[in-house]
Amino acid sequence: MKKVMVVGSLNVDMTVYTPRFPVAGETVFGTSLRIGMGGKGSNQAIAAHRSGGDVCMVGCIGTDAMADVVRRHYDAEGMSREFVAESATAETGTALIEVEGSGQNRIVVITGANDEVSAVQVEAAAAKIENMGAVLTQLETGFEPVIAAKELAAARGVPFILNPAPYKDMPAELLAGTDWLTPNETEAARLCGVTVTDRATAAEAAEKIRALGVKNVLITLGKQGVYASWLQDGGVKEELLPPPAVKAVDTTGAGDAFNGAFTVALAEGLPVPQALRFASCCASLSVTRAGAADSMPARSEILTLLKETYGVEL
Ligand code: RIB
Repeated sequence: MKKVMVVGSLNVDMTVYTPRFPVAGETVFGTSLRIGMGGKGSNQAIAAHRSGGDVCMVGCIGTDAMADVVRRHYDAEGMSREFVAESATAETGTALIEVEGSGQNRIVVITGANDEVSAVQVEAAAAKIENMGAVLTQLETGFEPVIAAKELAAARGVPFILNPAPYKDMPAELLAGTDWLTPNETEAARLCGVTVTDRATAAEAAEKIRALGVKNVLITLGKQGVYASWLQDGGVKEELLPPPAVKAVDTTGAGDAFNGAFTVALAEGLPVPQALRFASCCASLSVTRAGAADSMPARSEILTLLKETYGVEL
């Protein structure tokens, strides 16, 4: 099996569940508190691992009590910490999350040790990894390791996927030549100025994003599913794929689930329409459960929903 390298953040999430969000200056009663594994990078790595990928996570945590939560989670998950550095000076990344009755969330992240992930770390990990299948990144670290990851993917001739979340203005050199950019509708609007509400506006945004040098664009649209525009057979193909119908409990990490599973599917060499469906099932299953990393489904669950919803058998 080919390896999937994920370069990115590891956080400990402190999530409160509440019937509704408080307004500024208001106090409301919540229903429960959950402390669990999060961070966009790590969520994507765990989604990729559970959906069948052989994953190498490259990141950085502290040596504080929160780091114990990360170590325990990785060990229980059976995931290697070989490329997760430990900073003696910075604290493990944390996120404070509110989830309201509809499953929608609000998140504040303290990046901490995630800021210390470096290009040197990416290169050192790459030197030990043969048979790479894809490289997946986000923006909860600095740009340096993300650019190093892009260069590594190009050198190995494997897909480089960039999930531009949380959104930051990106250097032109990072966007140019990126194989897959995977913003949600808000991030797409910030990047190209098009308000994305439907297929037509998603297509307009994708065209503008492609003009920045990105090869393939995939815009996640929440309940509307995902819009994809990709190069194939000398032309551009597009699809708006509705998601499987599920009841959302907690949407935290849904985008991460999609990115992790989509990357595994690309590394396995699945055609894009099948990869989209595989990832869409992973994301839909994740919103039916509480937590970020904890909500990621197993490959067997994804395959069952894939067959039920889209009639696809892998
Ligand atoms: O995408 C969800 C994640 O965003 C949470 O797990 C939180 O840690 C933040 O990184």
